[in-house]
Amino acid sequence: MSLFDSTHPYNMQYIPSSIARKKDVSHESYLDKLRKDVIAAKSLFSNRKVTAKFNELQHGEFVARISLTIGVAAGLSQEELLHLHVGSIIHDIGKYDLPESILYKDGLLTCEEYELVKQHVISGSIKTSSIFDPNAIQIVVYHHEHYNGSGYMRGLKGEGIPYLARIVTVADVYSAMVEKRYYRQETILETDAASFVSDQSGAIFDPYIVKLFTSLFDAGGAKQWMKV
Ligand SMILES: [Fe+2]
Repeated sequence: MSLFDSTHPYNMQYIPSSIARKKDVSHESYLDKLRKDVIAAKSLFSNRKVTAKFNELQHGEFVARISLTIGVAAGLSQEELLHLHVGSIIHDIGKYDLPESILYKDGLLTCEEYELVKQHVISGSIKTSSIFDPNAIQIVVYHHEHYNGSGYMRGLKGEGIPYLARIVTVADVYSAMVEKRYYRQETILETDAASFVSDQSGAIFDPYIVKLFTSLFDAGGAKQWMKV
């Protein structure tokens, strides 16, 4: 079983025993529900047509692979990792209500268009809040907040930003830089993207998460994350 098997997303050997939860029946059935949520999150993309422009589910899964590796290194519980997995997959789901002329625009967005794009954190949470756990929804709402308070929609700062969202922010920005994008001719090297993450420690990103990301990257994370 791989670490990212969709029915059993986490191999328990990756979960430090010191943080393993008491295995009572109700907690086990809660975890089962969360595992099913991972599958439900992926199925939200099944009726989206895969355009030549961008594969949205693939992006969510790439963000999930990076986020989960960071989450494991951070010592998150299995429950938290499941929230992280669901939230990573659906983080941008609100974007896909936008017209394709904006979503796949080949050029700079106007101010009005950018304001509309920003709303995806709200529309995404409205769309999914009755389906998934609030801990996963927090990722949808807060993944564009910046550690220094310069992000959107609330302008939250530092530890005021939910922890899981701080992890996804790092994974999302890194993945957006290294993925092939239709609007960009040149490829951004993984090492350049990792340097950007490092440079933005304390500005866009939580320094502790950057520290974890950097050690994972230096240990060969890029190769592991690119495997599909
Ligand atoms: Fe987003």
